[in-house]
Amino acid sequence: MGLPHAPGPVAAQDPVPEQLDQLSPRWIFSALAQGVLGQDKALEFVAVSLYKHITGTLPGNLLLIGNSGTGKTTIMNHIQRLYHEVPLFRPLRAMTIINANLLVDSDRMEFRPERLLSAVEQRARAVLGQKPAAAELQALMERATVCVDEVDKMSAVVAGKPNPIGVVLQQGLLTLMEGEVVPFHTFALVDGKEEEVVLPINTRGMMFICGGAFEGLYDQVFTRVTSPGSGEKLKSTAIRTADGQVRIETRFALADFFRLEDLFAYGMVPQFIARFDNVVILNDLTVEVLKQILLQAVDSPLMRSKKYLALFHIDLEVEDLAAALMAEAAERQSRTGARALRGIWGKIMNPIEFDPFGSGLVQPKPEGGFRLVVTADLVRRALGL
Ligand SMILES: Nc1ncnc2c1ncn2[C@@H]1O[C@H](COP(=O)(O)OP(=O)(O)OP(=O)(O)O)[C@@H](O)[C@H]1O
Ligand SMILES: [Mg+2]
Repeated sequence: MGLPHAPGPVAAQDPVPEQLDQLSPRWIFSALAQGVLGQDKALEFVAVSLYKHITGTLPGNLLLIGNSGTGKTTIMNHIQRLYHEVPLFRPLRAMTIINANLLVDSDRMEFRPERLLSAVEQRARAVLGQKPAAAELQALMERATVCVDEVDKMSAVVAGKPNPIGVVLQQGLLTLMEGEVVPFHTFALVDGKEEEVVLPINTRGMMFICGGAFEGLYDQVFTRVTSPGSGEKLKSTAIRTADGQVRIETRFALADFFRLEDLFAYGMVPQFIARFDNVVILNDLTVEVLKQILLQAVDSPLMRSKKYLALFHIDLEVEDLAAALMAEAAERQSRTGARALRGIWGKIMNPIEFDPFGSGLVQPKPEGGFRLVVTADLVRRALGL
C-alpha cells in the first residue's frame, strides 16, 4: 500500500511501516520527496533527524535555512502529513507551527514557554478528542514536534544593533531543546472527573524544527567568500534556456560555503546552534525544479486548475515548452521562489477559468468531454515574452 494521495515510485514499492523496525530514513525520505521537490540533500538530513525522533533514540532537532519560497514550510507540512497518514506515527501527531516572536514577551523581556505548550496542547486535544485523561494528554504533548518559524528575526543583532529580545528567545528555546520540565496548567480527566491539573511537561522527547530565511546571511557569506585571499572559488555552470540558448552563469549557493561560524557572526547564540542535530540549507530552486513543481507538486496551481476545469468536463494539459517558459519567468523573480509560479499561472489561467468555453481554447474530444491545452504561444502572449 502506498501513501494515500501521493503515488510515488519508491513509496509505491515500499510498504508503509507498521512497526518501528520496518522504518528507515530512506523510507521517510521517499515519502517526503513526493511533495518536496529539488531539495534532496536537505531531505536526507530531515529524514535522519525524523528517524531519530520517531524512534525516540536521539534528539532530532533541525534548523532549516532557505530563501523565501524554497520549501521550509512545505517540509513542515509534509512531515505533518506523514504523521497523519501513517497509523504508526499516531503518538507523534501533536505538531504545531508557531512564529518565533510569539514565544517572547518583549515588554517584560521574557521567554514564554507556556504559549508554545498551549499550541501543542491544542493539537494534542485535536488528536485525542473530547476530554482526554491527564496522562494521555501529557504523553502526546511530550512527543510533540514544534516548528518555530522566522527564528532568523530573533538574532542577537538586527540591522547592526543589539537585539536583546533575540537573545532571550534563543536562551529560552535552547533550554527547552535540552529538556526542561515546564509546569503546565490545564483541565483534564483524573479518575474519570475533569479537574484543573498541573502537568509537568518534560520537553526532552520533543522535536524542534526551527526555520528562517536568514536573508543577510547570503550577503554575509558571499562577501566572505569573494573577499581577496578567502581561498574560495564560485562555480560556473552552463545553462540551456527553454528556447534553446546556452549561457554561462556563475552562481553562489550558500550550501557550498556555509560554516556554523557564519551563524554566530549573523547573531545566533553558539549554545543555541549547538542544540541542533543538523543545520540544513535549502537550495534556491532551479528552472528545472520549478517546472517540476508546477507540473507535479500535489498542491501546485496547475493541479488546482485541473480540478477546477474538471467541473466543466475539461481536461487541462500543458505543453512542455509552455511549462518551461513559466518556470523561467518564475526563476527571474528570484526573491519569491516557487511562490512566483502562482502569480504567473494566474495571469494565464484566471481569464480562462472565468469563462472556459468563451476562451476559444476548448476543443471537444472524440471520446466525449473537452480538452484545453496551455501552449507556449499562449504563455508568451499572456506574459508578454
Ligand atoms: N521544494 C519545493 N517543492 C515543492 N513545492 C515547493 C517547494 N518550495 C516551495 N514550494 C511551493 O511554493 C510555495 C511556498 O513555499 P514555502 O511556503 O514552503 O516557502 P518557505 O520556504 O517557507 O518561504 P518563507 O520563508 O517565505 O516562509 C508552497 O505553496 C509550495 O507549494
Ligand atoms: Mg515559510
